[in-house]
Amino acid sequence: MLRDYFFHHVGQTSPEPMALEISHGQGCWLYDTDGKKYLDLISGISVSSLGHSNPKITAAIHKQTDLHLHTLVYGEHIQAPQVLLAKALAETLEGTGIDKFFFVNSGSEAIEGAMKLAKRYTGRFEFLACTQSYHGSSHGALSLGSDEYWKQNFRPLLPGIGHIHFGKTEDLERINQNTAAIFIETIQGEAGVRTADAAYFQALQKRCNETGTLLILDEIQAGFGRSGKFWAFEHYGIVPDVLVMAKAMGAGMPIGAFAANSKLMETLSQNPVLGHISTFGGHPLSCAASLAGLEFILKNKLIDSVDSKVNLFHSLLKHPEIIELRSAGLLMALELGSFEKVMGSIRYCLSHGLITDWFLHCNTALRIAPPLTISEEEINFACKLILESLDYQPEEITN
Ligand SMILES: Cc1ncc(COP(=O)(O)O)c(C=O)c1O
Repeated sequence: MLRDYFFHHVGQTSPEPMALEISHGQGCWLYDTDGKKYLDLISGISVSSLGHSNPKITAAIHKQTDLHLHTLVYGEHIQAPQVLLAKALAETLEGTGIDKFFFVNSGSEAIEGAMKLAKRYTGRFEFLACTQSYHGSSHGALSLGSDEYWKQNFRPLLPGIGHIHFGKTEDLERINQNTAAIFIETIQGEAGVRTADAAYFQALQKRCNETGTLLILDEIQAGFGRSGKFWAFEHYGIVPDVLVMAKAMGAGMPIGAFAANSKLMETLSQNPVLGHISTFGGHPLSCAASLAGLEFILKNKLIDSVDSKVNLFHSLLKHPEIIELRSAGLLMALELGSFEKVMGSIRYCLSHGLITDWFLHCNTALRIAPPLTISEEEINFACKLILESLDYQPEEITN
């Protein structure tokens, strides 16, 4: 019944959705309406880092629900959850100069805001981004993507956008006095987990400083501890001009933000006033959940356990079909070399109670991005099923 309504009345994003009928979630597990349980190895695409129905988060949401929900367009009223969240976020960025947060509702929206901020601050309109990047699905964010497949049927998009190769130092010469900003994922997620080295990021920052170009780091997927540091840029000895965040930020609630120093951010409040506004940005429920999530990560020292969990995945995932396991903390891509093998593995795992996925720009690798709270026992369960899936032929898949 619900399934029929889903296909008839809910806007679809693909002809073949996973269409799992979710009843509830608990820790790293999701339960369907038949009572079957699934280990969530992708965290709803790097969102549910603290697991499902985390009692600290749901308690914070309930508490705020009893006080108030929406009151007025973002930026007008002083709302405790929003202000306290901004202060707590600033503390994670101490020493960087980044101390102001503009709250929105999603990653794409945060990218849009950062694009406007860069135009307003620099008076320039040209942007650079990287090949294989993903910054979101709205018009501006889509314009930053490089792959024609995703863009061709939605043109015209924004003018003045060029692309350089991620990690290629020679390409940094393309950044010049006309470039308002370069948008770059600190760790490329949808490209199938690609990293660049510290020397590259330092050269990038230097070039941005020389040309007056803003360095805008997209940590929508890599932030909030997933990389093994709270912010992924901490691995590289650099500091962005603008930092963009979302996904795990809300601990399961919708929220995003772009952050910068006060001088930069203040340009959005004048000439024109209300230079960027959002009705629901920084919604009190989302901010309450986000603040509780941030406190949970820090209090439970979740980040300290990331490296050992990654090592466990590496030690268990050994099989002749595995070409490589790329990892940047608990953001991992198991390279299998073909879409057929990846789909075979995804289907086998799903039918045996494990949720995995592929990547938007890399359909030859299996996505592994579990909640940071995943236990050793759960990692063993996941790896055992993945290895089994590589031994099976597609015709043996039952689902
Ligand atoms: C690196 C990155 N940037 C931006 C986005 C877009 O975020 P949202 O889907 O919340 O608009 C995503 C989503 O996957 C992402 O991974």
